[in-house]
Amino acid sequence: MKVILLGTAAGGGFPQWNCACALCTRCHRGELPARSQESVAVSGNGRDWWLLNASPDIRTQLLAAPALRPGPGPRDTPVRGVLLTDAELDHTLGLIILRGGTDLTVHAAPPVREALTADLPLHGLLDRYAPWDWHDSTAPGGFALDGGLTVTAHPVSSKAPKFMGRPASDAPWVVAYRIEDPATGGALVYAPCLAAWPDGFDELLASASCVLLDGTFFSADELGTAVRSGDAGQALMGHLPVSGPGGSLAALARHPHLRRIYTHLNNTNPLLDSSSPAGGAVRKAGAEVLPDGSELIL
Ligand code: MLT
Ligand code: MN
Ligand code: ZN
Repeated sequence: MKVILLGTAAGGGFPQWNCACALCTRCHRGELPARSQESVAVSGNGRDWWLLNASPDIRTQLLAAPALRPGPGPRDTPVRGVLLTDAELDHTLGLIILRGGTDLTVHAAPPVREALTADLPLHGLLDRYAPWDWHDSTAPGGFALDGGLTVTAHPVSSKAPKFMGRPASDAPWVVAYRIEDPATGGALVYAPCLAAWPDGFDELLASASCVLLDGTFFSADELGTAVRSGDAGQALMGHLPVSGPGGSLAALARHPHLRRIYTHLNNTNPLLDSSSPAGGAVRKAGAEVLPDGSELIL
């Protein structure tokens, strides 16, 4: 399986357009690498590619990845569809950019599909450009992707997006995906939105070779106490912090066999500077932060 990290920043990207914090300012000066909003491409055969989330930056992300170039016919594309982990704007607005693409399939959990039909009505809108197939990614038994990959979805939280105009159900709004290439045995666990360490997640990681994990916030007090909910180690705006006794880095230490990569970095996150103490701590623990465009083979 080939994996391309198309973008590695949280919503807003890095630098964020309206932010003059120290990190964004250093990025503007060219001292830190810019990052586009989080999205991934995977393929089992190098010809059929699937997007994991579709960020508003998807156009420039696709243009930057030679494997995803259109062809051989004038309107052919190797992009077969999109797997959504949630309904957040930074993970779904890229669908609008892909409008008119033919024969695309969107895999999403039922609450996500319902939100994108009623509250942010992309589903019907996009059908008027070209009809797409929408599948329930949580249907029992998982699903197969053209190109030879098999997928299972795993509910990880009930965090609904802020744009919801009605009380959100406590259904599994957010899922993680386990994507396996049966030809190699390589398995990716993709969990860019993790409110807490989910039940059963250790078992899921035990059978994987690589995890792409929510690295939105390094510490629980990164945004100040105003937006913090619960105690250290608890959900911070729906994102489990990396550091601290209840953070994800401590939990990942139980999986030393695994390639552990943080993504969806918020513009407040000191991991954006690899020379920071936070960057050193993550490296020492055996985890990674990679630049946009990084490729993995699993
Ligand atoms: C999130 O990951 O929590 C959301 O994308 C926040 C946002 O709306 O930017
Ligand atoms: Mn996000
Ligand atoms: Zn900033």
